[in-house]
Amino acid sequence: MARYKSDLKYSSVTPKADFMNRRQLMAGAAGLGLAAGLGMPAAAKLNATKTDYGAGLELTSYEDATTYNNFYEFGTGKGDPAKYAKALTTDPWSVEIGGLVNKPGTYALEDILKDMTLEERIYRFRCVEAWAMVVPWVGFQLSDLIAKADPQGNAKYVAFETLLRPKEMHGQSSGSFPWPYVEGLRMDEAMHPLSFMATGMYDEVLPNQNGAPLRLVVPWKYGFKSIKSIVKITLTEKEPPTTWNRINAREYGFYSNVNPEVNHPRWSQASHRIIGSGLFAKKEPTLKFNGYGEEVASLYDGMDLSKFY
Ligand code: MTE
Repeated sequence: MARYKSDLKYSSVTPKADFMNRRQLMAGAAGLGLAAGLGMPAAAKLNATKTDYGAGLELTSYEDATTYNNFYEFGTGKGDPAKYAKALTTDPWSVEIGGLVNKPGTYALEDILKDMTLEERIYRFRCVEAWAMVVPWVGFQLSDLIAKADPQGNAKYVAFETLLRPKEMHGQSSGSFPWPYVEGLRMDEAMHPLSFMATGMYDEVLPNQNGAPLRLVVPWKYGFKSIKSIVKITLTEKEPPTTWNRINAREYGFYSNVNPEVNHPRWSQASHRIIGSGLFAKKEPTLKFNGYGEEVASLYDGMDLSKFY
């Protein structure tokens, strides 16, 4: 399977046992209200091996990346997810993988992680709303997870679904949004070495507001493609529906590749604001494919990218 070209430098990150023990330990401790009592830091480090991938990019602060979020299941305000996502139970967690695969099944997150090499990747992240950040994600290639389910030759797309649990995700009680949140990729996009499943960020377990315990990160596409808190993955022959396209097909397409040359119908996509840069927000020109064109542009050879938005 294709590996990202600088992968060799990424040796494995966290001994998986440590990651999982911590996951179990923290869950148990939180349940008993013990974390502080045990003298455990609120968020123990994953000890991800630092690599030079993404070197030179200025990291967004942890504080900014975890308090300015889009996660409509917890409200529409940027500060809502940080306030309300604590209510989400992320352990136990399992992911149902089905459709055009030879090994369909419901996989416990622990079992998925057992087989994965966790690595850190520093990626640019560009929201369609024209703000951006740079985040060191910890996780594994999506292609490794798909391979586990042994895809069939006729699979052309991968559909993703977020948890539906209105009792914990209060935003899901609002009738106007087509819950659960769904997203999709073409099979070759999903198998591309840059497509990443994150279980952590900044060397820590993913905070709930950023999509715990498992979220997609597709760095060359607008942020809404990076679906959070995934419980279902289905390989299909037909292009699957995607939430923002269902809500407003004129403004949000299936592909949604970052493209400064194609404006959103209501605003320019030529530049973006770096979150956390305050009142005099730092602006940067937006790069085609968010700067990952060398790696991904060939996926779209022959497509008119101003039409397939
Ligand atoms: N996934 C789910 N399930 N629900 C959401 O509302 N918002 C998307 C994406 N994934 C969203 C989601 C949008 S619009 C963006 S920009 C990113 O998550 C934001 O990720 P962040 O909060 O980690 O920055």
